[in-house]
Amino acid sequence: MLIETHAHLDSHKFKRDLDQVLQRAKEAGIEYIFNIGAGERSSQESAALAKQYSQIYATIGVHPHDANEVTGDTLRLFRELAKEEKVRAIGEIGLDYHYDFSPRDVQQRVFRAQLRLAHELKMPVVIHSREADKDTMEILRQEEVDKLGGIMHCFAGDVKMAEECLRLNLKLAFGGVITFDNARSTREVVKAIPLEHLLLETDCPYLTPVPHRGKRNEPAYLRLVAEKMAEIKGVELAEVARVTTKNAKAVYGIK
Ligand code: NI
Repeated sequence: MLIETHAHLDSHKFKRDLDQVLQRAKEAGIEYIFNIGAGERSSQESAALAKQYSQIYATIGVHPHDANEVTGDTLRLFRELAKEEKVRAIGEIGLDYHYDFSPRDVQQRVFRAQLRLAHELKMPVVIHSREADKDTMEILRQEEVDKLGGIMHCFAGDVKMAEECLRLNLKLAFGGVITFDNARSTREVVKAIPLEHLLLETDCPYLTPVPHRGKRNEPAYLRLVAEKMAEIKGVELAEVARVTTKNAKAVYGIK
């Protein structure tokens, strides 16, 4: 059994056939799916999906793209949603300097505010960092993320940064990117870091693994990521499944 640690099933791309998507995930051996909040509405939908489906858990947060939409009401909404039993983390939160959809100073302020909310609620965090690693790591250190624990989602840094993340009590999640031809440096990180610190994710509907690139991604394809991780590390698929499942349960607090 595998755990999908990062999906966006509230995306409109799953509106028409979510039940079939979930059925295929089940057939592929996906035990639980963590649906990731990426805004106010997305977080509400994420919590609703967790209520509706026994295999889905939720996180709540505002993605850096939409940081300029955050108000005091957003944090009040999240405090309410966090009371729900299957809401397990604050995320995805962080910095994205690739698109700069929100000004960088606003992204940083909102990132810090959500890290402080995670401290208040005693929840782990799911971090998104794109072309912003220096500032992301500095904020994570200053806001004492090591006391929260959490996940570096779609990890794209080097081995040195990976080791710094481990010191900050963060696990590293890898998805379809590790199946891409041009991802040699990311595969090097997978190889270098012990399985005890790694997680599996799809980030669906984005980042579809080979051989389905160009199509919509979905949780069933997590298996392809797990197979690739096993190949890179030279271990059995069953070992990747066992250890990453244990890691995911530990970080998200699942018994
Ligand atoms: Ni995501």
